[in-house]
Amino acid sequence: MRSIVLSRGVVKRALRSYTRPDMATLITNIGELVTPIGSEALRGSAQGALDIRNDVEILIEDVTITRVGRRLDRRDSLEIVDAGGGVVLPGFVDAHTHAVFARSRDEEFLARATGIPYDGGGILASAAHVAECSEDELVSRSRPFLQRMLAHGTTTAEIKSGYGLSVDGEVKMLRAVRRLAETLPMRLVPTFLGAHAVPEDTSRDDYLALLIEEMIPRVKQEALATYCDVFCDRGFFSVDEARAVLVAARAAGMRPKLHADELADTGGAALAAELRATSADHLLCSSDRNLRRLAAAGVVAVLLPGTSFTLDVGYAPARRMVAMEIPVALATDFNPGSCPIYSIPVILSLAVTRLGLSIEEAITAATLNAAAALDLADVVGSIEEGKRADLLILDLERHQQIPYYFAHNPVRKVFSGGECRAGRDR
Ligand code: NIG
Ligand code: FE
Repeated sequence: MRSIVLSRGVVKRALRSYTRPDMATLITNIGELVTPIGSEALRGSAQGALDIRNDVEILIEDVTITRVGRRLDRRDSLEIVDAGGGVVLPGFVDAHTHAVFARSRDEEFLARATGIPYDGGGILASAAHVAECSEDELVSRSRPFLQRMLAHGTTTAEIKSGYGLSVDGEVKMLRAVRRLAETLPMRLVPTFLGAHAVPEDTSRDDYLALLIEEMIPRVKQEALATYCDVFCDRGFFSVDEARAVLVAARAAGMRPKLHADELADTGGAALAAELRATSADHLLCSSDRNLRRLAAAGVVAVLLPGTSFTLDVGYAPARRMVAMEIPVALATDFNPGSCPIYSIPVILSLAVTRLGLSIEEAITAATLNAAAALDLADVVGSIEEGKRADLLILDLERHQQIPYYFAHNPVRKVFSGGECRAGRDR
């Protein structure tokens, strides 16, 4: 469990709720098993090369997939799950969300529909909402959204802070993530995004000093985050500012990620390559030169077509990225401002119709490559012996129907850690 930094007691409690001694489950009558293969991100032509089989069963023991093969032995102690001839996929990994927030910003959404453009200014509105909330309230307001994500097939999700924008506010958000991780049957990966915007009542320099001298040490002290992210973009943080924050965070044990080149090409992708960040996210405006640097550095590109769709702006150049052999991942970016979409199936559909990915490339992007964007590709992201038993049964005949039924949630059963934890037919 490399990517959750939690105290030992917390990990033990979480694992206890996840373990099922002496239980084994056999998933039978699978119409189509569809999965990428491997323990690292796939790129180039390999990104679309899925393993697709229609003659296999899956054996789950405790929390792990122990066999994938034809006509496995039946045993007395086996629980049989009939997949009803449906499609079976790995649990989705949502590698970029802001799923902890205090309230929606529907008024901003409706104003945008009348022509007011998005400039990221709503981040401060969300920060004001979080400031009014206790940690308990944040937990109880965010939990239903995470349950909906789980019901749409997300078994692992990254969650960023970034609506606190003060020492106490950021710590409150990350503690809320930790409490949600302890109580929900999904893996949550916490990211510190104190550098999301400069609060109104603080100067840039003072806020940067606060980030580096107070927030990062505090996040480290309480072991609250695996990653540190910075909104490196026009009007937010410059490349030099982002570098200073990420270098300090790395010294405190957090790995770098970047919101890069969403609004303008300010060099965020180049910085991600320079720092060998785990991922660079958004990437709508990056130059080809900087994209090639990402490819050379092996940084995962996390694309967020739900945000482009919501804001009605351009899309990232996904086809060029695949051609450049950048490993491409997909995520929702679920947040109260620029993307209220929390469904990975909807994102898969947008990836096919707007980004031009094949459905096979898109499935890899939302499973194995997204797991790599969280340094978890050796644990989740594919259906293979030894991987964690996070998998989905869909009510579809073949995986090509996922993007086609755009507005439908195809997820019938969600197995998280070997147990059916959500879905319509639990
Ligand atoms: O990823 N781009 C920066 N942050 C979020 C939006 C946050 C907001 O508008 O509240 C994003 O789109
Ligand atoms: Fe984001």
